[in-house]
Amino acid sequence: MDTIAPNDMTAIVEADRAHIWHHLLPHKPLETNDPRIIVEGKGMRVWDQKGKEHIDAVSGGVWTVNVGYGRVEIADAVHAQLVKINFFAQSAGSIPGSQFAERLISKMPGLSRVYFANSGSEANEKAFKMVRQISARHHGGKKHKILFRHRDYHGTTITALSAGGQDQRNAQYGPFTPGFVSVPHCLEYRAHEQEFGKGLTGEDYGVAAANAIEEVILREGPDTVGALCLEPVTAGGGVIVPPKGYWERVQEICEKYQILLHIDEVVCGVGRTGTWFGYQHYGVKPDFVTMAKGVASGYAAISCCVTSEKVFEMFKDDHADPLGYFRDISTFGGCTAGPAAALANMKIIENEDLLENTLRMGDYMLDQLKALQDRHAVIGEARGKGLFLGAELVKDRHTREPVAEKMVQAVVADCMAQGTIIGATNRSLDGYNNTLCFSPALIATKDDIDQIVSSVDSALGRVFG
Ligand SMILES: Cc1ncc(COP(=O)(O)O)c(C=O)c1O
Repeated sequence: MDTIAPNDMTAIVEADRAHIWHHLLPHKPLETNDPRIIVEGKGMRVWDQKGKEHIDAVSGGVWTVNVGYGRVEIADAVHAQLVKINFFAQSAGSIPGSQFAERLISKMPGLSRVYFANSGSEANEKAFKMVRQISARHHGGKKHKILFRHRDYHGTTITALSAGGQDQRNAQYGPFTPGFVSVPHCLEYRAHEQEFGKGLTGEDYGVAAANAIEEVILREGPDTVGALCLEPVTAGGGVIVPPKGYWERVQEICEKYQILLHIDEVVCGVGRTGTWFGYQHYGVKPDFVTMAKGVASGYAAISCCVTSEKVFEMFKDDHADPLGYFRDISTFGGCTAGPAAALANMKIIENEDLLENTLRMGDYMLDQLKALQDRHAVIGEARGKGLFLGAELVKDRHTREPVAEKMVQAVVADCMAQGTIIGATNRSLDGYNNTLCFSPALIATKDDIDQIVSSVDSALGRVFG
């Protein structure tokens, strides 16, 4: 028998306070303030334990619930699948696994294989392991290094953090896995702080930021570098949309030095930027694409590491070799709820034309944020792609000195008090946790966006005067 009645909110809050170790939170304040419990969701909105309604401008806090809350058709698809067969290790196949993989690959020309796992970190670890095994089997241990970019994030495990470009997030978790090497970020707004970027704008900066990667490759030795791992649009590092010319040059560099290109689509994948995948805005041809959050919009835990056939072939060239295959498993990669939910999620995006809505509403929201910038000097830059947007807050537009993180958090808290959940970069980059983040569900309407932007407008007015 349950000891807590599901609608006894006082008991729920006390049980939470006594036993839950929340993600991301310092817990001291929860000794005097109630933890927030989200009880219900519908469309773009969620309700907390007090029955207060919030509009959610960050799709479940961490850009995940792309198709919105309360999707009965996904729940029904998962239910039907679970009562048929819930799990079998992925050494065997499943009906929804095959169906989803086929449908996913139809959106990803040039790629052909789907490896199922259950978190973004894990999907990235799969790609890292594949790169290491390719190095061992095909390059005599050379080409084992993996490049990652300053300000990018690829997950929470120690090796994913080894590829993490956010100093504050990594602090106190070392020592890290060897063989991961940092390359510079490509945030044009902060080009003046980079040696190679000073005075450059637009395509000149984009090409220079990519050339900075080449410099690292030459310094390390091209025969030591196996892969380059990048977010298509950097998420928690400040919503960084790559400048013109960047991706084209990155692709050339990878081809020149035979470096595999791994694109981390954990945030951008499955519609967030208005194309199925973020890299598809830029005509890039990746060797690995990893994805998680929006794959099933949080209705089930599923992540995928998708590869080209060329990568896959490198694991089956010698049948006689007992170590010739990818000897890896993810137990919950065999949960059928994941692909069943992902398939239903993809159908919703297609049936409701959500990619098109994302492009249209994304443009509208960026225009609205730029209009806010005209009214609030504290917004140094508004930027974004599709429904994935950021507003970088600065003390002074001329020097671009970032505002303190506590001021950014005050804006987030003010919005929350108004019933609008927004996000912000936090405890990630020393001195640069100064970007408000927005990633509403792909179903957002103009009215939803107006409500979100109006809350930010009031909050900025109150916090910065
Ligand atoms: C770009 C990126 N990659 C990977 C991850 C890790 O995903 P997960 O938390 O599912 O392990 C995240 C999480 O925020 C992310 O933003």
